[in-house]
Amino acid sequence: MTAIDVRPLPDAEAVAAAVAAALRTIDANIAAFGERYPGDTTVGGRYPLRANEGWTTSFWPGMLWLAHALTNDPRYRSAALGHVASFSDRLRSRHDVDTHDLGFLYTLSCVTPWKVAGDDSARAAALAAADHLITRVLPAAGIIQAWGDIDDPRQQGRTIIDSLMNTPLLFWAAAEDNKPDLSEIAQRHATQLRDHILRPDDTTFHTFYWNPVTGEPLRGETEQGNADDSCWARGQAWGIYGFALNHRYTGDPSLLDAARRCADRFLAHLPADGVAYWDLEFGDGSGEERDSSAAAIAVCGLLELGGQRYRSAALRILGSLIDGYAAPESALLLHGVYDKPKGIGVDEGTLWGDYFYLEALTRVTRPDWIDHW
Ligand code: GLY
Repeated sequence: MTAIDVRPLPDAEAVAAAVAAALRTIDANIAAFGERYPGDTTVGGRYPLRANEGWTTSFWPGMLWLAHALTNDPRYRSAALGHVASFSDRLRSRHDVDTHDLGFLYTLSCVTPWKVAGDDSARAAALAAADHLITRVLPAAGIIQAWGDIDDPRQQGRTIIDSLMNTPLLFWAAAEDNKPDLSEIAQRHATQLRDHILRPDDTTFHTFYWNPVTGEPLRGETEQGNADDSCWARGQAWGIYGFALNHRYTGDPSLLDAARRCADRFLAHLPADGVAYWDLEFGDGSGEERDSSAAAIAVCGLLELGGQRYRSAALRILGSLIDGYAAPESALLLHGVYDKPKGIGVDEGTLWGDYFYLEALTRVTRPDWIDHW
């Protein structure tokens, strides 16, 4: 029995009210954001606006597609489709695209409009993004380098657990464009993370280095967790959802096992209200902040895993987010943490936390909804 097992399940009315509140905020944000994009996190509770850059901008059109799935309202479809041109231009002009985050960026902004609305320009941009992503492959190591220039000595040979959410773009492109090598790259990357970023005690490193020439696995390090050997909560949540999605595409049972190991460890370290602190080494009484975004990602990963135990835990965590973390305006969720060690976005709304909270609400209220990861 863990803390989460004694949390109440949310009732259908509470979930419906949470969806309605989220849609009200999205409606206000459509007007407030215009053609600009919200920042990674709120600042003092409100999103600042920016151009289409960084790793998170696609979560905004991603939310618009979720709003469309929840309501079938053509206003959301039209607003979401309006972002395709910006993402196409971003790739064409090579503006801030030298990152593994092309998966987050182009799955939500372009694969989705291709699948939902048959937008050819979105399909072309998503395929081009997949081709650009594989320029970051280090063949000896069998990984996709996460950050920075391929020749940057600080970044060379490093990948990070979040990258498991970027491989779905490659699996999709492999099937769409008849390029099986993209699928092989993605599968090899996921198995390297299974073998090295997931630790024997079922916690995860945030980042891990390989020798880019010999392929030798070197060492784990953190960037956003509390310590190299602690367990960054959002990384563990990315592991739950990311390994589960990679299992969906490959059918490899060891990736499903990896997702379950991440899930069991995450659930065993939750505080009384079921919303993890930003690093799993912290608990109630630590005085540290929670990361509501880790909770929202974990809910989606647990729902993806399915089965009575994971579904029940997911619903209880979602109930806690609805009761104690829903934001009144600008963001959907309060109390996220982007990067505590660097003091960035601490105890703020986060754009990805909002997206995964709305995805969780969509999964729960629309069981027929098909995600586009
Ligand atoms: N993918 C970056 C983060 O989770 O902060």
